Amino acid sequence: MAIQTLAVDIGGSGIKVMVLDEEGMPLGERDRLETPQPAYPEPVLLLIETLAKDKVFDRVSVGFPGVVRNGVTETAANLTPEWIGFDLGKALTQRLNKPTRVINDADMQGLGAIAGQGVELVITLGTGFGSALFVDGKLVPNLEMGHHPFRKGETYEQQLGRAALDASGKKKWNEHLQKAIATLENLFNYDTLYIGGGNTNRISFELPPRVKIVPNVSGLLGGIALWKEH
Ligand code: BGC
Repeated sequence: MAIQTLAVDIGGSGIKVMVLDEEGMPLGERDRLETPQPAYPEPVLLLIETLAKDKVFDRVSVGFPGVVRNGVTETAANLTPEWIGFDLGKALTQRLNKPTRVINDADMQGLGAIAGQGVELVITLGTGFGSALFVDGKLVPNLEMGHHPFRKGETYEQQLGRAALDASGKKKWNEHLQKAIATLENLFNYDTLYIGGGNTNRISFELPPRVKIVPNVSGLLGGIALWKEH
């Protein structure tokens, strides 16, 4: 029987899952539940078990909103500090009884969106600000642009994350996003910049050339690449 992959996207506000076939095409609907608050490891693991219960799959791919090295989560700015040093790969392998691989959520989103040519930069606009960099399809893992200084003594995430959108409003947020795109273009000289995440629908200006919006589902579609790359 063909191998099926359960793709899981852990976000600050929602946890999403979908089963993919061997080519990475969706088999069935995307399911989503609200992220437990506070998002400690145990309730998040329980919620993933709930979402996985009625699904048939052979292996698991997880996008996590922080730095991930060898399945261990090293940062978690929008979850809780209990994630720092947590072996998420091992925990889910045991709980779901299937081999599990974990990478950064923006890296996973990028894997589901890129063309594999030239310098491709990905940013995600959700609870946090995610980023991923690829050169001819090869990932530079854990690019943490979100916590890098952007302007006025604040980081990209402080100026463009969900809290900033809520606090300063859509108009200011769009102005800041336009500036961020210009800065990133000068810094990376990318061939393509992809913008993903739940807040892309709030963008109200015309995007410059070489900048593309990608659908939210790429966050899950990238799950198949975790088993090709390694
Ligand atoms: C984290 C990144 C993550 C991004 C989007 C940031 O706060 O540091 O690792 O990709 O949020 O979830």
